[in-house]
Amino acid sequence: MAVAVVTGGASGIGLATADQLRTDGFDVVVLDLPATGHGDVSEGGVGAEDVSAADSDCHVIACDVTDPASVDAAVATVLGRFGRIDVLVNNAGITGSQAATVLHETPIEEWDRVHAVNVRGPFLCSRAVLPTMIEQRSGHIITIASVAGLIAFPGRAAYTASKGAALMLTKSIAVDYAIYNIRANAICPGMVYTPMTSWRLDQADLREQIERQIPLGRVAQPHEIADAVAVLASGRLGYLTGHPLVIDGGLSAQ
Ligand SMILES: NC(=O)c1ccc[n+]([C@@H]2O[C@H](COP(=O)([O-])OP(=O)(O)OC[C@H]3O[C@@H](n4cnc5c(N)ncnc54)[C@H](O)[C@@H]3O)[C@@H](O)[C@H]2O)c1
Repeated sequence: MAVAVVTGGASGIGLATADQLRTDGFDVVVLDLPATGHGDVSEGGVGAEDVSAADSDCHVIACDVTDPASVDAAVATVLGRFGRIDVLVNNAGITGSQAATVLHETPIEEWDRVHAVNVRGPFLCSRAVLPTMIEQRSGHIITIASVAGLIAFPGRAAYTASKGAALMLTKSIAVDYAIYNIRANAICPGMVYTPMTSWRLDQADLREQIERQIPLGRVAQPHEIADAVAVLASGRLGYLTGHPLVIDGGLSAQ
């Protein structure tokens, strides 16, 4: 059976992705922080241990994607159990606290924290799985970037810069590892209703303001992003690599 590793798979888009890939026949391993909460503006993830309790088919490993030792240990555990990794979904991400706004007002530690999860995380996780994928002569690294990596979100300098970097990391992997039959693609969601965004979207006036700017007139649900990951992970679109797949209801088309 093909094996997929989903980082940040205890909440939101990652949770929906893990569910979808499992439905599609993958052995899925979720890497996420322990269930103590992650202290961001996006409070509300269900946490790794809760997921394993809720669904015994779900393999969950507590892992901090910013920590090389934690990532290496998690990947070694996956390989010990399954012997291969076919798909890595770099999904874990944070927006930073509400203090991380325009550049000159962004606290340096918030800049570093956002980049640690959103850029160093995909770097460390991809770095850890690539030797196995090279040996297999196959693999697919799918990174959940954001439309913010293509067009700047006002007042979110750290997040925007980090998602731009995640996109270029994807392209770099695509170019360097194509010779091993390894592909790398990114997904660029617009606004999705998850614990990361619900604190804003649960305010009716703010939601209306946001949805008015989206041509399709609504935010996405997590499963709509998971569907895109599943199509990429399925091996269909096999000639696609280095691509930022935009799923934003038309937001960036205007
Ligand atoms: N929700 C949106 O509107 C939206 C839009 C575009 C892109 N995205 C991106 O999609 C991805 C998922 O976002 P979401 O909305 O589902 O958020 P979420 O907050 O619901 O889930 C994020 C998950 O990542 C985990 N995580 C955070 N830091 C981690 C770390 N250091 N190590 C391991 N796991 C960690 C959290 O515990 C959580 O389970 C993120 O990369 C986000 O930037 C989200």
